[in-house]
Amino acid sequence: MNYKIGLIAGDGIGPEVVGEAKKVLDAVAKKYKLGFSYTDILMGGCSIDATGVPLTDEAIETAKQQDAILMGSIGGNTSTSPWYKLAPELRPEAGLLKIRKALNLFANLRPAYLYKELKKACPLREDIIEGGFDLMIMRELTGGLYFGKRHTEEVDGVKTATDTLTYNENEIRRIAIRAFDIAMKRNKKVTSVDKANVLDSSRLWRSVVEEVAKDYPEVQYEHMLVDNAAMQLVKDPKQFDVVLTENMFGDILSDEASMITGSIGMLSSASLNDTKFGLYEPSGGSAPDIAGKGIANPIATILSAAMMLRYSFDLDDAAKDVENAVQRVLEKGYRTIDIMPQKNENDAENTENVKQVGTKEIGDLIV
Ligand code: NAD
Ligand code: IPM
Ligand code: MN
Repeated sequence: MNYKIGLIAGDGIGPEVVGEAKKVLDAVAKKYKLGFSYTDILMGGCSIDATGVPLTDEAIETAKQQDAILMGSIGGNTSTSPWYKLAPELRPEAGLLKIRKALNLFANLRPAYLYKELKKACPLREDIIEGGFDLMIMRELTGGLYFGKRHTEEVDGVKTATDTLTYNENEIRRIAIRAFDIAMKRNKKVTSVDKANVLDSSRLWRSVVEEVAKDYPEVQYEHMLVDNAAMQLVKDPKQFDVVLTENMFGDILSDEASMITGSIGMLSSASLNDTKFGLYEPSGGSAPDIAGKGIANPIATILSAAMMLRYSFDLDDAAKDVENAVQRVLEKGYRTIDIMPQKNENDAENTENVKQVGTKEIGDLIV
């Protein structure tokens, strides 16, 4: 079989981590006798530098012609990069929002799984993470505050900025159905996270989720307010299976969930629409502070490539091979700097077997 893969390397550590994931995909192609053809697509700051805009219409057309897209990350240092002196619609992030909307990528899956080898990189107490945890954040990705009307104006001589948070019931229903479908293949529990004690959009969210839940009698479901959810994630992450939530809450909770797996460098993601097409990317950003140093963790991107094999190409065995390879490399003690064990003064355990390596080395080991 032949598959067309669009590669959006992007900015900062993007090209470094995408390079490693591509090496892994090439190894998969060899083992399973597949043909992967790659097409580079410009997006983000690099596109601004080359074309003046973060994503051209031609780039969207090229993206639409692919079977799936593998992306690194886009953006720069938001305080110092000249890209942030541009109008908001010309900044790197506008390209990412534009491609999500243009391709209708409404379902963002962000799996947070604690590898037992990374318990010492997790900031939570040992008794909390005993037995690990495995949760899936289902983040709505094409609605809410990110896509509502916004403007800044002067009202009675006072600068005033407005962002609007809008959801309609169809947008809520389709992501809720995805979450319950995924729960059926996992531990059959959905926690829908909202702020229904304050927001109208959350009250609608809750009522639509309740309707959808009726079609899934086997799935245990609950509602949780987002502030409590942020707290429960560090108090007892084991309680969660599928966490269903709107765009902004999902953005924030997924970074929190990533850290309890050891690092943002571990959190993969898939952004899906109603077809087999998907955009696969690490959940973290372009990490300008470490870009070009060869130390970024490529595992989130490599695991995103595994999600591509599973969700877009139905290559479950190949996806498992990649995931097992990551597991074995961690078992053997190889770590990028972000997932090195955190030493605690009272900690007698020997960490001599752990070896710190760079982006390329860990990529080679996984290959
Ligand atoms: P960030 O995720 O880029 O970095 C936060 C911290 O995590 C930094 O210390 C960074 O070094 C570290 N980190 C991130 N990924 C890592 C990895 N793979 N390995 C090791 N360490 C890693 O978040 P930020 O600094 O708030 O944002 C930087 C830029 O990235 C901004 O322009 C932002 O808009 C953009 N961003 C893009 C995406 C995306 O493309 N999907 C996601 C988030 C942020
Ligand atoms: C993410 C990122 C993006 C988001 C930014 C870069 C627009 O933080 O993918 O999590 O907020 O969705
Ligand atoms: Mn984010």
